[in-house]
Amino acid sequence: MADKAILTVGDQKIELPILEGTEGDRALDITKLRDQTGVVTFDPSLGNTSLCRSAITFIDGEQGVLRYRGIPIEQFTVKPNFVEAAWMLIFGRLPKREELVRFSNLLTENELLHEGVKHQFQHIPPDAPPMAILSATLSHLACYHQELLALEDEESLEAAAARLISKVRTIAAFSYRRSLGLPVNYPDPHLRYCANFLHMMFSLPYQQYIVTREVEDALNLMFILHADHEQNCSTSTVRIVGSAKANLFASCAAAVCALWGPLHGGANVEVMEMLQRIHDGGLSPEDCIREAKDKTNPFRLYGFGHRVYRNYDPRAKILKEACDKVFHQLKRKDPLLDIARKLEELALADPYFVDRRLYPNVDFYSGILLRAMGIPTNMFTVCFAIGRLPGWIAHWKEQHDDPSTKILRPRQIYTGQPKTDYTPLEKR
Ligand code: SDX
Repeated sequence: MADKAILTVGDQKIELPILEGTEGDRALDITKLRDQTGVVTFDPSLGNTSLCRSAITFIDGEQGVLRYRGIPIEQFTVKPNFVEAAWMLIFGRLPKREELVRFSNLLTENELLHEGVKHQFQHIPPDAPPMAILSATLSHLACYHQELLALEDEESLEAAAARLISKVRTIAAFSYRRSLGLPVNYPDPHLRYCANFLHMMFSLPYQQYIVTREVEDALNLMFILHADHEQNCSTSTVRIVGSAKANLFASCAAAVCALWGPLHGGANVEVMEMLQRIHDGGLSPEDCIREAKDKTNPFRLYGFGHRVYRNYDPRAKILKEACDKVFHQLKRKDPLLDIARKLEELALADPYFVDRRLYPNVDFYSGILLRAMGIPTNMFTVCFAIGRLPGWIAHWKEQHDDPSTKILRPRQIYTGQPKTDYTPLEKR
């Protein structure tokens, strides 16, 4: 395969090297294009532009393949352990037993919030959006961990990662309790990561919430499936903010804001509202499909389509199976799962979706599984953020460790006024 491309710009002909990744993905190296020709490229959604080299996650959108550090996502479903997957994403390999024990202990040591952070919850309106609370509080943590604002070695990075990954649960659970006017539950150091989160969410002063192994495994799986997804919108946000040498807390707080968007992490909420509308009789599945295809209607089939997958999102396949398993174990059914299945069946038989290669994505079934665990819809995107946090940290670290990193500063095509003069106020 050629290792360079020839580009002709006016009467100039230049060679562009072709870079190749370990899985055969190829890119034109245009790092010298503007210096050589004076022109830049135009790719507003960045769908044709590689932001970086990365060894963290590999996606083959055509085949529906997702691998974390080379390991197929399906292999994490056997004995799902989110803490292990998180450490692996950040440090590049599966942890040895002693490393996993050390990191788990760090998470336990850092599960509490400083009382100063905790007190801020009393001043937050009960109906405040949980993603607003999460982003603000992640940034707020920087006030209490100033020693971790400048990370110079792996040990301090691990300490900062542990604080963020551990405390994000506590922040999420405290915001949920605040929204219900309930007293917060302090974390229980005897519980594993996911069980502790569910305890903080659902225990009552007079009754400890008992987590079944099935639900704990399902939540570990949920967080693992959301842990990273290469250069998605929120992860690229971490890279952009982090490229300015902004600290890890600020970079992750910015990523929370990007994930909040209904086209990104907010889609799992939109999916549930869509399914609920159908269940409540406001819309038939057929109407839903019809509305989604209508270009004059802003409604989309939420949980369907993807910027990269042109095949079934492997995470959606795993989540769909997990829904069946958990409902069987809990001896429960959820009519919304049947509606989701019906919608999928209609869409995958409809030329509009088939021709555009639109398939279920990670958000199509995730909300149904979270609901089965008792997690309310307004906490779904927060759960996505808890899962994605290790991926954000891994990308921040990979970029921070790369000596060739420069501040990300894209160019533009100017379409404004040609040179004009200032008009004094009295003449306007
Ligand atoms: C996530 O990037 C990541 O990796 C993200 C993520 C992660 O893990 O970080 O995977 C998580 O964000 C998943 C996506 C969640 N969002 C949704 O489910 C919202 C619904 N989906 C769409 O809005 C849409 O599919 C996007 C935003 C995901 C992608 O938008 P694009 O890039 O515009 O989709 P496209 O270029 O493939 O669209 C091709 C055509 C267009 O119509 P035409 O111009 O050809 O007529 O398909 C249409 C689109 O309008 N289309 C849809 C649709 N998705 C695309 N039409 C109806 N319903 C949809 N869901």
